[in-house]
Amino acid sequence: MPAQIIDGNALAKQIRSEVAGRTAALKAKGVQPHLAIVLVGEDPASQVYVKHKVADSEQTGLQATLQRLPADTTEADLLARIRALNDNPGVHGILVQLPLPKHMDSHRVIETISPAKDVDGFHVASAGALMVGQPGFWPCTPYGCLKMLDSIGYDLKGKYAVVIGRSNIVGKPMAMMLLGRDATVTIAHSRTADLKALTRQADVVVAAVGKRNVLTADMVKPGAVVIDVGMNRNDEGKLCGDVDFDGVKDVAGWITPVPGGVGPMTRAMLLVNTITAAERAAH
Ligand code: GUN
Repeated sequence: MPAQIIDGNALAKQIRSEVAGRTAALKAKGVQPHLAIVLVGEDPASQVYVKHKVADSEQTGLQATLQRLPADTTEADLLARIRALNDNPGVHGILVQLPLPKHMDSHRVIETISPAKDVDGFHVASAGALMVGQPGFWPCTPYGCLKMLDSIGYDLKGKYAVVIGRSNIVGKPMAMMLLGRDATVTIAHSRTADLKALTRQADVVVAAVGKRNVLTADMVKPGAVVIDVGMNRNDEGKLCGDVDFDGVKDVAGWITPVPGGVGPMTRAMLLVNTITAAERAAH
């Protein structure tokens, strides 16, 4: 039996409507939830991402303001702007779009954002909070993956999960979230000796490498849940993930498509983090 598709568009729509409800409730108390986005330079992909983030916010009643800064902005200037946003009680979430121009230290820039407003979940305080199970902000992509697992009523307790990819933004936080749900977790990566031996045992596989066909049908346990975080182009220029969808869908129990899977969920979880930041500030 072919895998069931986990529809990221449908789930994201449901989450946006929940965010809209929470936003309306805060507005009724006189608080306008507000996300500040900072874009430095002219990176074409970043411009598209930022446009989506503003549109998504406005669609759910969140205020989004975009500061566009020229590519030759000094780091000191950017840090000063971030500090001003930190100090502005009318701003609840701050997002500095990455990548930054090469003359800037991204780490220093992210660490300047107040952890209380770090809706990307990239600050070391956010990473640490996730690690020790304290309230904080979870990075949007792995958080969205977890929501997809929840949407099918999947109980992770005692299950074996393999995360392929060890980035700070996806792989590592994903592993922590799965561990937090009592899964047994392996993080595999480019130096892993025998990936197939691991994934064939896995009840859940999250592929977050950024390379096509990292996971093929022969590597998947029948009935497994396969979450595809990849965003790649195939030879025809079509968007595809890290998973060989056509092959794996005949073996897996559930699978997320690309496009229409994790991507819309990442966008939705930014809205969740922003309304959460505003609710926390209002308490
Ligand atoms: N660049 C690509 N994805 C992201 C993201 O999720 N957040 C930020 N800040 N920059 C990005």
